[in-house]
Amino acid sequence: MSKYSEIKKITINHLKRMKNDGEKIACLTAYDYTSAKLVDAAGVDLVLVGDSLGMVINGYENTLYVTLDEIIYHTKAVKRGLKRAFLVADMPFGTYHVSEEDAIKNCVRVIKESGAEAVKLEGGKNVASLIKKLVDRGINVMGHIGLMPQYVHSMGGYKIQGREGDEKLIEDALALEDAGVFAIVLEGVVAEVSKKITETVKVPTIGIGAGKDCDGQILVFHDVFGMFDDFVPKFVKRYADVKSVILDGGKKYIEEVKNDVFPSKEHTFFRG
Ligand code: KIV
Repeated sequence: MSKYSEIKKITINHLKRMKNDGEKIACLTAYDYTSAKLVDAAGVDLVLVGDSLGMVINGYENTLYVTLDEIIYHTKAVKRGLKRAFLVADMPFGTYHVSEEDAIKNCVRVIKESGAEAVKLEGGKNVASLIKKLVDRGINVMGHIGLMPQYVHSMGGYKIQGREGDEKLIEDALALEDAGVFAIVLEGVVAEVSKKITETVKVPTIGIGAGKDCDGQILVFHDVFGMFDDFVPKFVKRYADVKSVILDGGKKYIEEVKNDVFPSKEHTFFRG
C-alpha cells in the first residue's frame, strides 16, 4: 500500500511530491455531490470539475457552451462530496480570453465561490503571463496542453498532438512551468512526446490519451464507468458498465410498477 493512501487530505504539496516519489497521481472528473463522494471514497488523488460537463451532463456537442456559473454550480456540489481529493475547477472558454483583468476576476470568483483549490486553463505560452499573475495572487493553476478541446474550431477538429515533432509542446510545457503551474494536463499527445515532457519539467504531468509515462492519469467519470457512449475515444478504458446496470434496473422497476408489484407492503405507510 502506498504511503499516500494514508493521507487524510491531499494538498498541492503532496501532488508536487508524488512526482519525485514516483507515486502515480490518479485523477478523475466529477460533476455532482454523489459521484464526487464515490470517487473520493475510492481514493482518487485529484478531482477535476471539467468543462467536459458540457457534453456528458448537458449534451452539448462540445465544451464551448459551458459557462462560469455552470462550473461554479457543479464545483460547489462536488466540493461537498470530497474529503480527501484535491479539487480543481476548469475555466470555461471565454472566461480567460477577453483580458487578463477579466480572467483574474473570473478565476478569483471560481476560487471564492466554489471551494475549488485550483483552476485549470487550456493553453501554453499564450497563457503563461496570465498564469504568472494568478499564481502571484495565490491561485493554484493547472496547465493543459496538447489536444485542447476549447480550440476545436481553430484546430479543425480533435487532433492528436506531437506527431510532427515535440518542439512546440516542450516550449509550452516549459513556459507553463516557468509561470508557476503545479501540474500540466497532457491531452491527446503521442507517447514519445509526453515521456519527453514528463522528463523535462519538474511539475507532474497528468495524461489523458498521452501514454503511460506521465506522472498521473485522468479520465472522464462517465467514460470510466461506461455511462456515456455518444463517442468513445481510443484512450478510454471502461472499468464498469453502469449503463447496463441502470438499463436493467430501470426495466425491472417499470415492470414492477406496471404489474402492481411495487410498492409492496414494506414500502408503504399504514395508519395502524
Ligand atoms: O474537461 C475535462 O474533463 C478535461 C479533462 C479531460 C482533462 O479537461
